Amino acid sequence: MINDVVRYPSLEHRVIFITGGGSGIGAGLTRAFHRQGARVAFVDIDDAASQALVDELSAESGRAPHYFHCDIRDVAALQAVIAEVGKSLGPIQTLVNNAANDDRHSWRDIDVDYWDERMSLNLRPMFFAAQAAAHQMIEAGGGSIINFGSVSVRMAIGDLSAYVTAKAAVHGLTRSLARDLGTHNIRVNTLVPGSVMTERQLEKWISPEDEASIQQHQCLKLRLEAHHVAPVALFLASADSQAISGQELAVDGGWG
Ligand SMILES: NC(=O)c1ccc[n+]([C@@H]2O[C@H](COP(=O)([O-])OP(=O)(O)OC[C@H]3O[C@@H](n4cnc5c(N)ncnc54)[C@H](O)[C@@H]3O)[C@@H](O)[C@H]2O)c1
Repeated sequence: MINDVVRYPSLEHRVIFITGGGSGIGAGLTRAFHRQGARVAFVDIDDAASQALVDELSAESGRAPHYFHCDIRDVAALQAVIAEVGKSLGPIQTLVNNAANDDRHSWRDIDVDYWDERMSLNLRPMFFAAQAAAHQMIEAGGGSIINFGSVSVRMAIGDLSAYVTAKAAVHGLTRSLARDLGTHNIRVNTLVPGSVMTERQLEKWISPEDEASIQQHQCLKLRLEAHHVAPVALFLASADSQAISGQELAVDGGWG
């Protein structure tokens, strides 16, 4: 498996915090960082998938990643978990802001509550997690923050206006935070997935016809999966990317 091939010594024992690390691309991230020997903590709301992942990695390696049930829309709860991880595992040196939700929404039906709720899930936690983790990274002498953007920002996809607005803001958040935190040796980058065939995408949105059309748009005629994304997050977290900040790195098979 690709995730097992490259070894980054700088990630061994490193404390990594991942949002939405229990399923989809996030589970690929949890697996990949854990297999590098990092100390991984992740939050999610899907207890069954998260526990299954903890059990799988435990059986595989004899040690377990740390799962915390936390709805990231609750900023105080997210800040509390980040503080607890810092105390129990040591200062967080990599934050992966991965969790999001791309439920479709007609422009006619969006009301103020729904709009605010989408931002509270897809945008707000990224800033407050970064703010909380940055204090720990400063204590550790530096760190890396990886914000998940989306290829959808560059396209005209309907029924997604609140989601795409949040994702476009993420790209801006990265650049501004990269400036603020760079003086503390904290790097901030956006990882931009293309159309990644997670279970949820295949169940909810992507038909075989859609997938064929996606591959027509991609330069590379491959099915993008979580294991294509995780190695790029490893690189952005590692010392090998120590001079890279404020960037957008797309893993989209050459679509954007
Ligand atoms: N899959 C794609 O094609 C694609 C494309 C572009 C961008 N992205 C981005 O990549 C990231 C991961 O996407 P994915 O496809 O793996 O998504 P997913 O829906 O498969 O997984 C998201 C994870 O976040 C968790 N989560 C959802 N709401 C939460 C909440 N309120 N609190 C805590 N955890 C919560 C879910 O339980 C799940 O484990 C997202 O930021 C997404 O916007 C994905």
